[in-house]
Amino acid sequence: MSKIEFEPTNNKVGCFIYTNLQEVKEGQILEIKKLLNKYGVLFFKNQSLSPEQYINFSSNFGIPAKYPMLKPHSDFKDIYVIERKETDTGKSFGEGPHTDSSYLENPPRFTFLQAIDVPEEGKGNTLFYNQFLAYEALPKEIKKKIENLKGVFSSQGKIAQTRELRMADHGTSGTSEIKSEHNLVQSINGRKTIYCSPGHVVGIVDLNNEQEELINFLSSHQIKENFSYSFSWKKGDIALWSNRSMLHAATAFSGNRKMYRITIQ
Ligand SMILES: [Fe+2]
Repeated sequence: MSKIEFEPTNNKVGCFIYTNLQEVKEGQILEIKKLLNKYGVLFFKNQSLSPEQYINFSSNFGIPAKYPMLKPHSDFKDIYVIERKETDTGKSFGEGPHTDSSYLENPPRFTFLQAIDVPEEGKGNTLFYNQFLAYEALPKEIKKKIENLKGVFSSQGKIAQTRELRMADHGTSGTSEIKSEHNLVQSINGRKTIYCSPGHVVGIVDLNNEQEELINFLSSHQIKENFSYSFSWKKGDIALWSNRSMLHAATAFSGNRKMYRITIQ
């Protein structure tokens, strides 16, 4: 089995994988899955996968999920196009820390993003926040407090405003509020992670007076610099992350940008 080369980011928030995905072997996929579990987000630089190859690679990780808010690519139903034009005003899609579609009862486990067209490097970065590290760094009493709490996640949380532009473009119709409850602490292969999407969480079950205070505390803790990494896109790059152990956020930019997103159930 040929090993893959990889290198974690300085602060261990994510990992770069140096392999040509056009030639990836089955054994290497297993290694990639292990690294994904360990680091939460993987970056594949200098790739040139066609849409078919991209879909094929993503199928190693599970079944593609349907995104309820947008219509898929007209030729590839598993791909959702996230596009921003130079002339667009308002916030970038997904600006503000969140985890994808966490208001669903079964949120997608993984998200892939492929850069099709991007502004110059360093513009339009995506920020990632490692929630394994964020959990480890929580004060003991907060760990205890949130151990069995559930958050209320809503599609109308504060990130909803960033999708208005995309929905006006090619949104689906009839998207009323979708709400779900999830444990604020989740476990992946025995490692605990904070699962609280600041863009979607609107309350905490059975916690009356302290809801807002706790949500605010967690939201600012989750995105501390020690747990964060800013990924700079170049055309062809692919990022793959676990929605249960990472938060991510788009950053503000101007320019033309087109990304292909695939989420996995
Ligand atoms: Fe997102």
